[in-house]
Amino acid sequence: MFAELSSDDRAKYVAAKRAVEFVEDGMRLGLGTGSTAAWMVRCLSERVQKEGLRIQGVPTSTRTAILARELGLEVITLDEAGRLDITIDGTDEFDANLNLIKGGGGALLQEKIVASASDKMIVIADFDKCVTHLGQFPLPIEVLGFGLKSSQDQIASLLAAHDVAGRDITMRMAGNAPFVTDEGNYILDLHLDQISNPAKLAFALNQVPGVVENGLFINICDLVVLGASDGTLEEYSKN
Ligand code: A5P
Repeated sequence: MFAELSSDDRAKYVAAKRAVEFVEDGMRLGLGTGSTAAWMVRCLSERVQKEGLRIQGVPTSTRTAILARELGLEVITLDEAGRLDITIDGTDEFDANLNLIKGGGGALLQEKIVASASDKMIVIADFDKCVTHLGQFPLPIEVLGFGLKSSQDQIASLLAAHDVAGRDITMRMAGNAPFVTDEGNYILDLHLDQISNPAKLAFALNQVPGVVENGLFINICDLVVLGASDGTLEEYSKN
């Protein structure tokens, strides 16, 4: 099967397969969103079927919930689960401090809530996601529809006071209509190119009324598992 995959999928698959090795019988897991996380759901389902592992999963999006159920995983809500053992998710970027930009798939709000409720967050990615400075990938901000223009203006003013290389803000679209998140909100993408102080920016963004959450994951990720298309792996942990 491995040889038949595209080189991108091979990298994602090996990272996902390694990450699910951390899963033990009886665990409650956060299930991430995106193409890499989808490989993790498949690998998890394989382990459940082969080894009879009893695990429960909290999906971070409708998409992931559908895939997990299709593959026979037991899906529960975060409120039913309480605290989670491990969340495994993809990322759009990560830096040397294991800080992340997430939300390229629009699921950042649920992803951050679920990861924050987990004892450990494992990020799975290919080598392209590793950056010296966060910000080349547009930073997604989930915002309420009410007063959207006002929130956007306040974000623009805030950016002027922060050390970022770019300041363009675009509305996330799905075809001709605005993209709507699972929670019924909108996404603004901040084209910052380089963020000098991600923690400071993340805190400031969440002070703007109407901002529900930002896509900077600061001090949440514990381990990054990087896969390459030749099947090799690298791991970076916080400690
Ligand atoms: C979803 O909202 C995102 O945070 C994804 O985890 C991120 O975009 C990575 O997706 P891929 O694994 O598809 O690159």
